[in-house]
Amino acid sequence: MKNNNYHLLYSIFEAAPVGLLMVDQKGAIVLANSNALELFQYKQDELIEQSVEILIPVGYRRDHPTLRKEFYSNLESRSMGKGRDLKAIRKDGSTFFVEIGLNPLTLDNKLMVVASIVDTTQRKEEERKLRQLNEALEKSNIELQQFAYVASHDLQTPLRGITGFAQLLEKRYKEKLGESGNLYIDQIVLSVKKMKSLINGLLAYSRVDAQSVPHESVCLQRVLDDTLNLLDMDITKRKAKINYSTLPQVLGCELQLLQLMENLLSNSIKYNQSSPPEITIACQEKNSEWVISIKDNGIGISEKHYKKIFEIFKRLHTHEQYPGTGIGLAVCRRIVNRHGGKIWVESEVNKGSVFYFTLAQQGKVE
Ligand SMILES: Nc1ncnc2c1ncn2[C@@H]1O[C@H](COP(=O)(O)OP(=O)(O)OP(=O)(O)O)[C@@H](O)[C@H]1O
Ligand SMILES: [Mg+2]
Repeated sequence: MKNNNYHLLYSIFEAAPVGLLMVDQKGAIVLANSNALELFQYKQDELIEQSVEILIPVGYRRDHPTLRKEFYSNLESRSMGKGRDLKAIRKDGSTFFVEIGLNPLTLDNKLMVVASIVDTTQRKEEERKLRQLNEALEKSNIELQQFAYVASHDLQTPLRGITGFAQLLEKRYKEKLGESGNLYIDQIVLSVKKMKSLINGLLAYSRVDAQSVPHESVCLQRVLDDTLNLLDMDITKRKAKINYSTLPQVLGCELQLLQLMENLLSNSIKYNQSSPPEITIACQEKNSEWVISIKDNGIGISEKHYKKIFEIFKRLHTHEQYPGTGIGLAVCRRIVNRHGGKIWVESEVNKGSVFYFTLAQQGKVE
């Protein structure tokens, strides 16, 4: 058997970056390259002419001759072990995960099978670790969400108590408390109000993830109309000018998209000292997505703050300068991310800002 064909094949086997075995119809190993010897920890003369079944863990050996016969009766290349836990056994009895490719080959008129063997133990281990990590992350995310939700929800009750008692104090002891006492009560009520809006913000933030995003068709134009109605008082008070082109149908959750639009539009009016504030809402198609932009002529944002403003509780101003809790844009980012999109800002201080976000397409702008 060790003729020229055999030697040629042997040198081809040696050049292969994986373990290769050639097995005859009876299941005897005819050829093994160095990689295969290293994988199974055998020497060449220990493996040649041995039954290939010695490389299969004991529990699976019995079925192997039948599988081998099946292969010879239906000669075609196939791979084994992908997506399942196929194992092989070394000389010392230790086992390892493998992926095996089987290819029929005729050598000197004899039908053979060439098996390519890849040790997937390390990959499997990495996959297992990654799976574990993902599971742990998912669990802690859920716990965190629940914690934020429960905490913010439960915090509202004592807060209502504080407001109630402050009001009672004011009602019953107004005269006795004097000017400074009454001032302190006003401060308590104001602080409680602030805390309440923080809690509501936190609740809104934790709810974004708690609600699953349904993939329903949403008319973004209707969302914009509703947002403008909600902000009607602010718009009228500031005499803001709102321009927009017709917005398209998108995929997502209407309620969350309303929250998104409301946050962005109220910011563009709030952080604006131009008279009149002018806001332009536009939509463009890019890389099979909608890019929605909200442009204002407001106070602008320095480039160093572009990222920071999307973090929860990050504000660039004091409450006295501009009231707010610093949650709005964090909620916006969460909503857009949950919809599979991106949100970012481009701005120039004292000139204005443009907030962009992307959404999956559903229909086109008319
Ligand atoms: N259109 C804008 N122009 C200039 N600055 C902005 C604009 N939008 C947001 N900012 C800046 O980003 C910060 C974060 O905004 P965000 O909406 O998250 O919080 P907020 O408006 O302070 O409070 P909230 O929206 O929770 O009531 C703001 O404090 C402001 O400094
Ligand atoms: Mg805001």
